[in-house]
Amino acid sequence: MSDEQRPDDKRAEIIRLAREYFDSRPPAPFVPGETYIPPSGKVMDADDCGHLIDASLDMWLTAGRFADRFEEEAAARFGLRHAKLTVSGSAANLLAFACLTSWKLGERRIKPGDEVITVAAGFPTTVSPIVQYGCVPVFVDVDLATHNVDVDLLEAAITDRTRAVMIAHSLGNPFDVARVQAICKQHKLWLVEDCCDAFGALAEGRQVGTFGDVATLSFYPAHHITMGEGGAVLMDSPLLAKIAESFRDWGRDCYCKPGCDNTCNKRFGWRLGDLPKGYDHKYTYSHVGYNLKVSDMQAAVGVSQLQKLDRFIARRRENFDRLTERLRARGLDRLFHLPEPTPGTQPSWFGYLLTVRDGTGIDRNRLVQRLEERKVGTRMLFAGNLTRQPAFRDVNYRVHGDLTRTDKIMTDSFWVGVWPGIDDQRLDYMAATLDAVAQEMRGDEAA
Ligand SMILES: Cc1ncc(COP(=O)(O)O)c(C=O)c1O
Repeated sequence: MSDEQRPDDKRAEIIRLAREYFDSRPPAPFVPGETYIPPSGKVMDADDCGHLIDASLDMWLTAGRFADRFEEEAAARFGLRHAKLTVSGSAANLLAFACLTSWKLGERRIKPGDEVITVAAGFPTTVSPIVQYGCVPVFVDVDLATHNVDVDLLEAAITDRTRAVMIAHSLGNPFDVARVQAICKQHKLWLVEDCCDAFGALAEGRQVGTFGDVATLSFYPAHHITMGEGGAVLMDSPLLAKIAESFRDWGRDCYCKPGCDNTCNKRFGWRLGDLPKGYDHKYTYSHVGYNLKVSDMQAAVGVSQLQKLDRFIARRRENFDRLTERLRARGLDRLFHLPEPTPGTQPSWFGYLLTVRDGTGIDRNRLVQRLEERKVGTRMLFAGNLTRQPAFRDVNYRVHGDLTRTDKIMTDSFWVGVWPGIDDQRLDYMAATLDAVAQEMRGDEAA
């Protein structure tokens, strides 16, 4: 690089070198039994690295041109009018729920003490916002094969206090969202779809995330695409979008983008709340909000990852099918419940959930320890049964019926990876190791 180069040429050269550096790192070979097989992970390429460097050379740092582009492209992918980037999937869930508490929604707003139907077999931050806003989570049991909400129970759990349903599509397998949407419409309930683990999953040929009033995504490295930390809230309603932006951006009424002033053309012409007429709109707050905005470096990586999403999803589906074939071929479906897509859906698998069948004598905890020792990474279905977590000891919640199948998942389920970094060699090793460990444990039990 010479001193005479123009800034634009220097920039192009830096990006080219960054891409070259990325591609120069040799991939580590897979050694069965020695190379750890993580249950989830990110797949990055030179484009992602180039985008990250490009955004950092802007030195804009806060949300900027890449954030705008990501929001536009993500919304278009869903055929929705709005996508709002946030710092994480958990922040997206918080923001989605916060929106529904806004005074701008009048009588339909969710208030403290209202009930929200959800499940306990899942990730905590699908439920945390319900508690954080003083509402009462109402837990219903799940179905073992699809590890998703039992919709008959959901319907039966509705009372005159119920205001919303907030549930995740579990490990990329959609719940029966069309039926849940119909129930919500009938009872005038808000529907929040947590799609953090299910980007690209389809139900009745339609993308999950388009059924609810609001939906959320996560871009943590374990997820379908990543920007390190990141998430998004999706919605079609311009009113909900405006409310979401307000809660996300400090609670302000002003909707100027970072670095802009007077977008409304009457910055000193408003009279809102009990403020004096003309009080600066930039510092007028319509909600008790947060700052959940992303940096443009995160968004830039998101933009390039989004281009590869379809390929990633296809690979996850192939891995799911190939692992099922291998497990069935070894007769492991007699020892474990294998996961099944919810009828009428095309999952976008996040992980592969196995549940030890009753009477097999296999202890899940010992099984996963042995798998980990042999380098097959495993995970629980997150919190297992949220109501049994220390965090829920003092929480005001209600259980409709019982959580027998949720408890079964808590004690007998675990999942392994199907993410795009897993290839046939790894799948062969995973199936053979699971077979070997399960047979050993049955032998221990018989002895
Ligand atoms: C269903 C679900 N919702 C929300 C989250 C939270 O996402 P994040 O880690 O980006 O906060 C996760 C995390 O994996 C999740 O599995």
